[in-house]
Amino acid sequence: DLPSLKTEMAPYFKVGAAIEPDSIEAPADSSLIAYQFSSLTAENKMKPGTIGKAGELQYDFRAADEIVAFAQAHGIAVRGHTLVWHYKNGNWTEAPDWFFAGDPHDPGYRTQVAARLTRYVTDVVTHFRGKIYAWDVVNEVISDDPHTVYREDSPWYRALGKDYIAIAFRAAHAADPAAKLYINEYSTDDDGKRARLLSVVRELRAQGVPIDGVGHQMHISIDWPPISHIKQAFDDVAALGLENQVTELDVSFYNDPGSCWSNHGTCRPDYGRHVPNDVLRAQALRYRALFDLFKQEPSIKAVTFWGYSDKHTWLSSTPVSRTNQPLLFNASLQPKAAFWTIVDPT
Ligand code: XIL
Repeated sequence: DLPSLKTEMAPYFKVGAAIEPDSIEAPADSSLIAYQFSSLTAENKMKPGTIGKAGELQYDFRAADEIVAFAQAHGIAVRGHTLVWHYKNGNWTEAPDWFFAGDPHDPGYRTQVAARLTRYVTDVVTHFRGKIYAWDVVNEVISDDPHTVYREDSPWYRALGKDYIAIAFRAAHAADPAAKLYINEYSTDDDGKRARLLSVVRELRAQGVPIDGVGHQMHISIDWPPISHIKQAFDDVAALGLENQVTELDVSFYNDPGSCWSNHGTCRPDYGRHVPNDVLRAQALRYRALFDLFKQEPSIKAVTFWGYSDKHTWLSSTPVSRTNQPLLFNASLQPKAAFWTIVDPT
């Protein structure tokens, strides 16, 4: 029998995958998921753009409930992702307009938006109470610009300033006191980004805001960032007495410049149908180095991959459309070299 990631890593942390409902509707996929993973995240279906899309108090929990029911039937834990996010792409938004309806100049506007946020977080966390061991309460709230701490181009920041973060954490904790509450962020390996993130974490704790951990997305590539930078991120969080989770791990073939992400300008060339063998080998060694590190960090409570098979990964369309195979199982659901370096590191 194939080794199982969740069994191999049980002494250290949960091992998770992000999934969509179609992942558990296909028999081969659902048995792989049940066999390999001890934690599941909804890749999209627990986000406000799905649950809260239809309008105020009109929740759509159908797809999320399907994922939670599958997890429970197989004894798999569930991470909630995410209560608050700013993301917009064309007509799609994870911060639906109804949250921000009204006149920002009206003296009651802030109170009204804050009340909608509290209501939404309370209702969603209550719906899943007892079924979710950790929530990403806020996602990507820290600025990439060294001159500002918070992401200011978020409708949440525009409406409420930084206060929306504390409001969301307090409401989540009140609705399910047993759930661990996380702030989730990318590029935590970057010294400046991490300094801004940890300044926010320290401020929240000083105000008595219930926060348990930092989620490191960890969308990384074969050759960046160095393991030492990643280790520093875990250690700095642990030094504050908080938990760590790796929440969205994938190892891209391409180490792209920021311009590829920001305006689809300069991107590394597509391997197309001819991925060199040494690229897959480098990816396998990279995964081994990562898991060697993860196992040495007792503060890491879960490591979640952003997908399970290379047949579906957000990186084949983001930031541009191209061949990318960032996960442990290939498009035919067979284990790759990367899988074997993790489960059999000899
Ligand atoms: C991505 C999903 O994978 C895509 O399917 C969707 O179109 C956009 O969101 N950081 C996050 C995740 O926190 O929620 C994102 O997921 C990937 C980047």
